[in-house]
Amino acid sequence: MKFHCITFLFFLLANIFLLKATSAQNNFIECITSQFQASNSTQNVIYTPRNNAASYSSIYQSFLRNLRFSSTSPQRPLAIITPTNESEIQATIHCSRKHGTQIKVRSGGHDYEGLSYISQTPFVIVDMRNLRAISIDTQENTAWIQTGATLGEVYYTIAETSRTLAFPAGVCPTVGVGGHFSGGGYGMISRKHGIAVDNIIDAIIINANGQISNRDSMGEDLFWAIRGGGGTSFGIVVAFKVNLVTIPETVTVFNVSRTLEQNATQLVHKWQYISDKIDENLLLRLFISSVRSPAASNGNRTIQASFTSLFLGRVEDLIPIMEQKFPELGLVEQDCIEMSWIESTLFFAGFPNGTSLDVLLNRTQQNSVYFKGKSDYVREPIPEHGLQGIWNYLNEENGSQLQFSPYGGALSTVSESETPFPHRSGNIFMIHYAVVWTTDSPRHINWIRRLYSYTAPFVSKSPRAAYFNYRDLDIGRNNNEGNTSYRQASVWGFKYFKNNFNRLVRVKTMVDPSNFFRNEQSVPPLSSN
Ligand code: FDA
Repeated sequence: MKFHCITFLFFLLANIFLLKATSAQNNFIECITSQFQASNSTQNVIYTPRNNAASYSSIYQSFLRNLRFSSTSPQRPLAIITPTNESEIQATIHCSRKHGTQIKVRSGGHDYEGLSYISQTPFVIVDMRNLRAISIDTQENTAWIQTGATLGEVYYTIAETSRTLAFPAGVCPTVGVGGHFSGGGYGMISRKHGIAVDNIIDAIIINANGQISNRDSMGEDLFWAIRGGGGTSFGIVVAFKVNLVTIPETVTVFNVSRTLEQNATQLVHKWQYISDKIDENLLLRLFISSVRSPAASNGNRTIQASFTSLFLGRVEDLIPIMEQKFPELGLVEQDCIEMSWIESTLFFAGFPNGTSLDVLLNRTQQNSVYFKGKSDYVREPIPEHGLQGIWNYLNEENGSQLQFSPYGGALSTVSESETPFPHRSGNIFMIHYAVVWTTDSPRHINWIRRLYSYTAPFVSKSPRAAYFNYRDLDIGRNNNEGNTSYRQASVWGFKYFKNNFNRLVRVKTMVDPSNFFRNEQSVPPLSSN
């Protein structure tokens, strides 16, 4: 009897939910269709499960980068809008407000927790793929970049224009400008030129009232917030204007690996003392994973540390720096390759030597894996016994990898409050924890959480800082529906932004007091206390 009552209640709730979603969908579609008709917009940018199911599904799936969210997604979007101009975004905001649907904005779709394309409440996706123009001004060395562009497209377009201009941002070519630039943007030339947000000089954003503004009209508070605080809490960013940076025509790359049998632990330990202080033209990034030991025939595993590095200069200038600061690695000229900066972007993205630059324009590389990532900041070198403990965890999990990304250089010359991205002077490096797997199982997420607990004594504290672009809902989240209190959001907010979180809340309160733009980790306005 009890079972029947629960089953009945479940069906009742499910049906109410379904009815609510269907009516929200009908109302939204009716509204947006009439808005588009009134402005002579093409209807071809509205995709729903009913009007064009195949295209809807393929557009939804095409940027779905993480299998964790392919089947478990609690809801599919009521509609996907792929705007070709600003007025179509304004219409979507208008209809979403009117009919109470949430908006998720998707540029490259790389959000670690799928926040740009999944939701627990009825929602629509504004997919920026059609807004990806890039225009470069070689007189003033700047570029206007629409947020639907990918990093690969940005790098390709810059390189078409000049061999000595570049932009400091991430290594994966399919990452989108919209999420990446508004949340930070660390890459292989960041020790020399800072991160993406340090080089943004203007932006175009559409707010919750549908108003379009640039830096002048939005004001410095909002312009500050969208350079590291995430665009999605404040509006839909249509484009960023950036300063391009000057680089030498020839750069040098190398990828040198050492196992435990080749003193990897001691090398990683020493690396912590030099990687943030060494010449800022040099970025020595570390990738660490468990591999089958080349020295063992019995299948034993070992740890491999790969020093994957970029030097903004020629090999003849690199070798003396390494000999002086890090002789233990034993880097020799034969380990190094000279190339152009644009070729180095292919090298770091893992493409084989000689791959055509056109691969940078491919937006739809699929990751058919499950993935979970987390991050930490390290301010004191981790002792050797701490590293050995980390190696034990890596040996437990086949698909695991750590990245140690060095800070210092230009990253440290900016104050913590200059942009919402607060991870500046005093940080030696950032840890990126990653695990990938191919068959669904909670084991892998448990593993990464256990490793994260283990490393707690060795990383930043009060708050235990995290990188916003490596989104992690484990560190705190908002309510699924409705308002979230400042107190609840503070749990994750101070970890990503330190004291800048308070200013982000003030900006949010000013520009979106009704909390229209919200998600599982959006900045709340004070009124929702
Ligand atoms: P996506 O479209 O999923 O957006 C991410 C967030 O931004 C969502 O909340 C979304 O709503 C919001 N958003 C997107 N467009 C917006 C817009 N126009 N206006 C307002 N809000 C918008 N990071 C790094 O610093 N250095 C690196 O080298 C890498 N490398 C890397 C490799 C791979 C394979 C992955 C999956 C991720 C990275 N990252 C990274 C992390 C990356 O910077 C982060 O996931 C970005 O948020 C991705 O931006 P997308 O636009 O692709 O994601």
